[in-house]
Parts: sequence; structure tokens; C-alpha cells
Amino acid sequence: MGKKLFIKTFGCQMNVYDSARMTDALASSGYAPTASVDDADMVVLNTCHIREKAAEKVYSELGRLRQMQEERLRADGSRVLIAVAGCVAQAEGEEIVSRAPYVDIVLGPQTYHRLPELVAEALQEDGRPLIDIDFPAEDKFDHLPEEAAPQGVSAFLTIQEGCDRFCTFCVVPYTRGSEQSRPVEAVLAEARRLVAAGSREITLLGQNVNAYHGEGPDGRDWGLGRLIRAVAEIDGLYRIRYTTSHPRDMDDELIRAHRDVDSLMPFLHLPVQSGSDKILAAMNRRHTADDYRRLVDCLREARPNLALSSDFIVGFPGEADEDFAATLRLVNDIGYSQAFSFKYSPRPGTPASSTAEQVPEDVKRDRLESLQQLLRAHQETFNQTQAGQVLPVLIEGEGREAGQLVGRSPYLQPVHFSAPIHRIGQIADVAISEVLTNSLRGEVVIPRTGSDGPSELRVGI
Ligand code: SAH
Ligand code: SF4
Ligand code: F3S
Repeated sequence: MGKKLFIKTFGCQMNVYDSARMTDALASSGYAPTASVDDADMVVLNTCHIREKAAEKVYSELGRLRQMQEERLRADGSRVLIAVAGCVAQAEGEEIVSRAPYVDIVLGPQTYHRLPELVAEALQEDGRPLIDIDFPAEDKFDHLPEEAAPQGVSAFLTIQEGCDRFCTFCVVPYTRGSEQSRPVEAVLAEARRLVAAGSREITLLGQNVNAYHGEGPDGRDWGLGRLIRAVAEIDGLYRIRYTTSHPRDMDDELIRAHRDVDSLMPFLHLPVQSGSDKILAAMNRRHTADDYRRLVDCLREARPNLALSSDFIVGFPGEADEDFAATLRLVNDIGYSQAFSFKYSPRPGTPASSTAEQVPEDVKRDRLESLQQLLRAHQETFNQTQAGQVLPVLIEGEGREAGQLVGRSPYLQPVHFSAPIHRIGQIADVAISEVLTNSLRGEVVIPRTGSDGPSELRVGI
């Protein structure tokens, strides 16, 4: 007992959530988390396969771990277990151990509940790597222990996993498998436990989260809109978010939730990938750029202060100058408050990777640069609109400077501010005085009660 576990997480929020659940699973095997890889008895790399660069990082990281493993063996004879989990593990399986034979365990995202057995086995066998990349019939959530460590003010909760949309560039349907939704009661119970442990904001996660259709207590399938209304009933939960959604799965019930549920934040990550109908069709997104514009209109009608974010891919096979121009037009039409953009990266096994019309690297680079310049300009414009306003900020912790606190605006912008009263987990009204590209600064607004000076910070939304 008394062994130490270090998990390094790559990729999306779901991997962050999964790493926390792997930590819970390994607690029963006697592993406690450590912040330093150097004193770990077991290291897990929780990997991402979405783009080539992400996947390659794993091997450079493994090279470093091998050195550490050898040094520890020499120094005190101890054996450091190395596990590769996540989407690279799922996609590459055997190949990982042939490139890195010192890896002890390879396991995919659907078998984390088997970690304790795998670890016990790995410690007995000498050296033979164990590979478990099944898509098992049993549901890992039924076999994982309840969350042990509190997640903090802002927590993630996976409600849906996998994807059936098969966008032609994307590995997720292969690495995460087919779309599965957790039952409503399981989600609500976990949300209540998170709030009881101190979380005030929950981000509901799924690879295609708005395709959620979990079984409700009434035996019927509930959509995400209905689930959000139920989550919003939990006392002490101030903010709800969800990510990542597909435009095609945005139904009326969910749009109405944006109108009716105050704690559902007015910020939505709604990836569009491209503004060209030709490219959208080739990506198998199954909507046009105008469908997306209309959807955003409906959402803004439901929630006039809604800010949007997106993902974009430039240089998808066959993307001509006019297709890219259509993407820039769409960006200008929507006006995103922030967005992510990537060069297309051909991924093994995906349909788009084998098409002939690959876009040259220098064209991808130039397009990415112009798109990012435009997106940055939009982000700055959006941030400027906050200057002089009072924003409710959920306080997440202390800032870098003494006496400073840091939290998030409803639009997910980090806000740094000073406040006389220190209350992590509460909402402060902050007057924004300074706007930077990626964050805001301000001072807390103290509500006056008569003449007797500052009162409590505001609690709640
Ligand atoms: N579940 C998320 C996708 C996760 S991947 C969703 O459906 O939105 C996050 C982003 O990575 C995608 O939105 C896309 O913009 C980008 N991406 C995915 N595959 C890619 C590839 N092969 N090359 C470049 N970017 C990619
Ligand atoms: Fe990948 Fe998202 Fe498309 Fe699913 S919807 S295939 S996760 S990009
Ligand atoms: Fe990466 Fe897997 Fe998430 S490929 S983005 S870690 S679902």
C-alpha cells in the first residue's frame, strides 16, 4: 500500500473526466495520486488520437518514461508500471507495445473499470504487456466506484459517450465506439454528489452530447433539454454547460432550455468546421452553412445574449480558395466570441484520409493563419463589449497576484479581480475595467446595504 499514481492527460475534456475516474478506480488497488511523475509507482498516459501531432506526443512522452523506469530500477529496484490509456491506445493497441515494449498495460476508454485487475496481473507477470481494448458488453459506469476526490468549483460529468455521426475526418467513432447515453437517474445522482462535494458549475460532457437520449425514470428516453431542466433543479448548482454538440442534434426542446433555464449559461460551443456547402457535404456533416446560420438565429432568439464558439478545419481534402472564403464569410456572419481552428490532419482508417485531393501543407498553413487572425479579431471585439459592464463571475480560486481572485464569466472568459472578501465557489459581480485578448480584469462590485459598508458577496446565479 501507499503507492503513488501519476496520470498525464491529453486531448478533450472527456479525457480529463476519465483520468479522474481512473484515479477513483485505482484507489482500491492502493494508489493515491501524486503531482510529481518522479515519485510515481505507476504512470498512466491518457492519450488523444484526434490529430497526428496529438498521437505522436505519446511516443515522445513514452521515451522519457522509459528512462525514468530504468533509473528507478537501478536506484532502488522498484518497478514503475506504465499504462497507455485513451484514444491512441484504442486505435493502435498492439502497435504501442511493439514500438514501446516496456509499456505494461494498454487499455481503451471503455475498459477503465478493469484497471485494478490489469494492475494486479501486470504486477504478477514479468514484463508481458497486457492489452485490453475491448468494447465490453457491460457498462463501465456500472462498475466504476463513485467519484472519490472532489473536482472543484467547476466539474465535468460524462453523460454520453461515443459517436454515430462518422464525419469523414474524425477518429472518434472508432476510438470511442458507438453512441451510448447514461440513464437520467445515474446522471442526476452523480450531479448531486458533485454539488454536495462543493462543485457549483457542471459541464455535461459527450462526444456528441446533444444526441443524448438516456432512459428517464419514467422509462422513456429523455433528450438533453429535458435532462438539463432536471439538473437545474439541484440546489446549490449555479451553472450548467454542455459540450460538444453537433448542429444536427440541436432539437427544439434543447433550444427551449436555452430560453427557460437561467442556470444554463449563455455560451455554446457549436462546431461548424467549414462554411462551404461542398466541404460540409464531403465531411458528412449533413447540414449546409445556411442551416447553421438559421439554427444560430433560433438560438439567439431563445437566448439573445448567447455567445458562440466553434471548431474549424482548414485544408480539408478538396477545399478550394472559394470554399475557404465561404468559411471566412460564415465567421463574419456569426461573430464568435472564441473558436478553435486546426489544419486538417489525415487520420488512419478515416474516409477523408485516402481521398486524392489533399491540400498542400503551405496552403493549410496560410489558411490557418488568416482564419486565426479573423477569429482573434472577433474575440477581441466580443471582449471589448464587456468593458464597463458588470459580469457575474464564478470564483474558482486565487489569482497569481496576492489578493487577486480568478473566476469565469458566463461566456467562459477568465476574469481576474480583487475582492475584499474571499469566497471560492460563490458568484461575484465584477465591473470589467480592462480587456485583454484572453481574459478580463475588474473590481468586485460590493452591494451597499444602507451606510454600513460592504456586505456579503452575492450567492447564486
Ligand atoms: N466531439 C467533438 C469532436 C472532438 S474533436 C465534436 O463533435 O465536435 C474536436 C475538433 O477537432 C473537431 O471539432 C474538429 O474541428 C477537430 N478535428 C477532428 N478531427 C480532425 C482531423 N482529422 N484533423 C484536424 N482537425 C480535426
Ligand atoms: Fe467526430 Fe464530432 Fe463528427 Fe462525431 S460528430 S464524428 S465526434 S467530429
Ligand atoms: Fe482525443 Fe479521444 Fe477526446 S481522440 S479529442 S481524447 S475523444
